[in-house]
Amino acid sequence: MQSFSALFQPYTFRSGVHVRNRLVLAPMTTWSSDPDDSVSQAELDYVARRSKGVGLALTAVTYVTPNGKGFQGQFGAEHDQRLDSLKSLAAAIKSGGARAVLQIFHAGHQALPEFVDNDVVSASPVPPPASPFRSDTPVPVRALTQKEIHDIVLDFGQTTRRAIEAGFDGVEIHGANGYLIQQFVSGHSNRRTDDWGGSLENRLRFPLAVIEEVKRVIATHAQGPFLLGYRFSPEEPHEQGLTMHDALSLVEALRAQDLDYVHVSLSEYAGQPRRGNDLERTRLEQIAERLGTQTPLIAVGNVWSPENALQALDLGASFVALGRALLLDPEWVQKVEAGRSQDIQTTLSINDREALTLPEPLWKLLTGFMVKDRLTDEPNPELNPA
Ligand SMILES: Cc1cc2nc3c(=O)[nH]c(=O)nc-3n(C[C@H](O)[C@H](O)[C@H](O)COP(=O)(O)O)c2cc1C
Repeated sequence: MQSFSALFQPYTFRSGVHVRNRLVLAPMTTWSSDPDDSVSQAELDYVARRSKGVGLALTAVTYVTPNGKGFQGQFGAEHDQRLDSLKSLAAAIKSGGARAVLQIFHAGHQALPEFVDNDVVSASPVPPPASPFRSDTPVPVRALTQKEIHDIVLDFGQTTRRAIEAGFDGVEIHGANGYLIQQFVSGHSNRRTDDWGGSLENRLRFPLAVIEEVKRVIATHAQGPFLLGYRFSPEEPHEQGLTMHDALSLVEALRAQDLDYVHVSLSEYAGQPRRGNDLERTRLEQIAERLGTQTPLIAVGNVWSPENALQALDLGASFVALGRALLLDPEWVQKVEAGRSQDIQTTLSINDREALTLPEPLWKLLTGFMVKDRLTDEPNPELNPA
């Protein structure tokens, strides 16, 4: 039998935060906050169960400022009244023995107009791409002023302070998946002619300013080890969008930041680039190579088996994040560790919601389109004992 011990090597990050293994709960929005945007009991139950095996658990993304809210049912971290809600989330994750990392963002032009008084903002007035989460009606987008950009940078810092006060072990800056930070990096969505746009150097100014402010807050407020990670997406499909060439320049800039980790958001961990750079080798290999050995890399994307996870390590990742695999089987990590990987569930029956501790709105989206190909009619006997 293949040994999966490489997945269970402990690790101490640059900041001093120690984790028990190389497996990570991928950040996953559950659309299930309470009506006042506090973390709900359903989300606490969902995340506590999935934090019992992994080393690091990344929360669903939260917004740092009111007009950064991106989804229906997204919990907030934009003011100090959120502290109790955030404390309960950190405690739920830590109860399972994982390190708790709050993922923080501003949705930019992906914000839903109804949540931001119809004042949708971005680097430039470029509309968001189509999404199953938004209506098809075009949304007017306004370019942020320089003062607003500075204020949002400070908001990332203040949310980091709240994460520290709430007992988290770190924050992950969400620079991926087309949200505000990526909107600044991308030449497609950033058409600014001031210092925040134009050359790649200028387009990287916003993420680097956010990193600098978050680091400053950590240095000022954290009493013990507190980690800082950064998630990015390597490519965008549209013509003027990000290419692997841009992505590798971003990776180089991140390498110089002495982060605890860099997290590449991939839909397929072994996928090859679309354009720009070497099309033969996987994105993961090229990114790992450019990042070097001093900063660990988290990979994600279509990892369902421990063999997949090992392959991601072989391609250059130091950690592997599991998204849908942990939704469909919350005990994935424990099963692999106990030599029971043959028992991992990778399909979903229409009766599994409660047995899997999945919040109702997340369940609806999963069965609606996110794992449609994995739905079976048969109830799973392990989850639904007679
Ligand atoms: C239900 C769901 C919610 C997600 N929410 C987030 C999120 O809040 N932040 C984020 O960076 N990525 C989010 N993602 C992307 C995942 O973190 C991950 O990158 C993606 O699902 C690919 O990994 P997988 O194939 O293991 O599921 C979400 C994915 C799913 C399925």
